[in-house]
Amino acid sequence: MNVRQFDSYEAMSRYAAFSVATQIRQKPDSVLGLATGSTPIGLYDGLAQLYQEGLISFRRVTTFNLDEYYGLPAEHPESYHAFMKRYLFSKVDIPAAQTHLMDGCAKDPAEECRRYDAAITAAGGLDLQVLGIGFDGHIGFNEPGDSFAVDCHLVQLDPSTLAANARFFGGDPAKVPASALTMGLRCIMGARHILLLCNGPEKHAILKQAIGGPVRPEVPASILQLHPNVDVLFF
Ligand code: F6R
Repeated sequence: MNVRQFDSYEAMSRYAAFSVATQIRQKPDSVLGLATGSTPIGLYDGLAQLYQEGLISFRRVTTFNLDEYYGLPAEHPESYHAFMKRYLFSKVDIPAAQTHLMDGCAKDPAEECRRYDAAITAAGGLDLQVLGIGFDGHIGFNEPGDSFAVDCHLVQLDPSTLAANARFFGGDPAKVPASALTMGLRCIMGARHILLLCNGPEKHAILKQAIGGPVRPEVPASILQLHPNVDVLFF
């Protein structure tokens, strides 16, 4: 793992944006795994700026998002579909057909997950996966458990995740969808390069466990220690 500390969120985001931009310039048809939440907003702003400056194009890029709330339609303002449109897809030249998110309203979540895993495999896997980290050590919505969750699956969100995400739902954890569809750890670990971003000192304790503690399913992000090409960025 390459671990880099920055002075600020802005500095971390700028570095992350240049890393993703380098990936796109080296391989214009890159397959990117993307995250939502507060952490990558600065990264997406940076990418939108680099696009506006003519330094990168997303015309041949394909994206797969990590997760989507279960039960939220794509049009809901807090869906991850809406988030991606707001912060990145509407600002760059990526064709909509090349952006992939799970259907939060899929009637058969297991079938939706099989479809999603197969689509990632068919795309040749992920060249670069962007990750944030949850207070409980989750990546994607792979929550702490008795074993590492390998495949895409429907997950009950941890109470700490509901509390953390309540800020997007009027501050009320009861309004946060209780479950989500998430990419599993096999796809994440199959990415050829991983960028893990940690947004702020309040997450230093869990980050320390993830990168320096034992590898164990109670801290899902700790599995990244077994990956050969991870950049950990924090401030
Ligand atoms: C979001 C995701 C989550 C978040 C994590 C941190 O797509 O997969 O793992 O990265 O919950 O969230 P923020 O960035 O809001 O602190």
